[in-house]
Amino acid sequence: MAPSPLTATPQLLSLLENLHSQSLTQESKIEWTSLPGQTSNEFDNIMRDKFIALDQDKCELIYHLLRSLNATTIVEAGTSFGVSTIYLALAAAQNASRSGNTKGRVIATEKEPSKAEIAQRNWSQAGNEIEGVIDLRIGDLRETLASDLGTVDFLLLDIWTPLALPALKLVEPHFRPGAMIIADNTLKAGSGYEELFAYVDAPESRFHRVTMPYAGGLDMIVYE
Ligand SMILES: C[S@@+](CC[C@H](N)C(=O)[O-])C[C@H]1O[C@@H](n2cnc3c(N)ncnc32)[C@H](O)[C@@H]1O
Repeated sequence: MAPSPLTATPQLLSLLENLHSQSLTQESKIEWTSLPGQTSNEFDNIMRDKFIALDQDKCELIYHLLRSLNATTIVEAGTSFGVSTIYLALAAAQNASRSGNTKGRVIATEKEPSKAEIAQRNWSQAGNEIEGVIDLRIGDLRETLASDLGTVDFLLLDIWTPLALPALKLVEPHFRPGAMIIADNTLKAGSGYEELFAYVDAPESRFHRVTMPYAGGLDMIVYE
């Protein structure tokens, strides 16, 4: 197996291993087939103490893509306990430092204050390199992403599927040409993504997408 693509301290790599492992242990105990609808309070109650972190191989791919895109302004729809955010922030900080004239910024979104608090605790353990990079917006992303985005290089859609299209539409006016969007679980949760795909695949749209064979499906969408 190839070594981790991350330029990171052994401490940070070990923190990430540990967070992913906690997430997977939790996920193995969830009865996915009997979950209530994603827009219900009951669903939120079940998910309030869950990581549901993006799989480690997907996080590593995203970090790699971000380094290649030289992305310095990144939006994350769905932050939870902040695991994927660490990868985004590390890449944004390293890209900014390589460019020399910008500061990396990750706009992270989480509607549950208790989850946001745990995310901040995890980030504080991640070390100096990501310090000051994450702009955490607590609340419903349909409100928190409505202003102050700047020019966006990359959007991660790791959110309940009914929120994917609203998030994309809020960020769309801010994308730079060549911006990239990654959406998770696009095959497994395909029916939930129908509206997003109809929008992205429409002939007049400026988006193009490809589905990659990661677990559950991972879509890469490029803004023309
Ligand atoms: C799949 S998890 C994100 C996992 C995270 N990206 C990671 O890898 O660690 C999705 C998160 O989106 C949050 N969420 C759901 N609806 C939201 C909304 N309307 N605005 C902001 N966050 C929301 C949930 O509370 C949940 O923590």
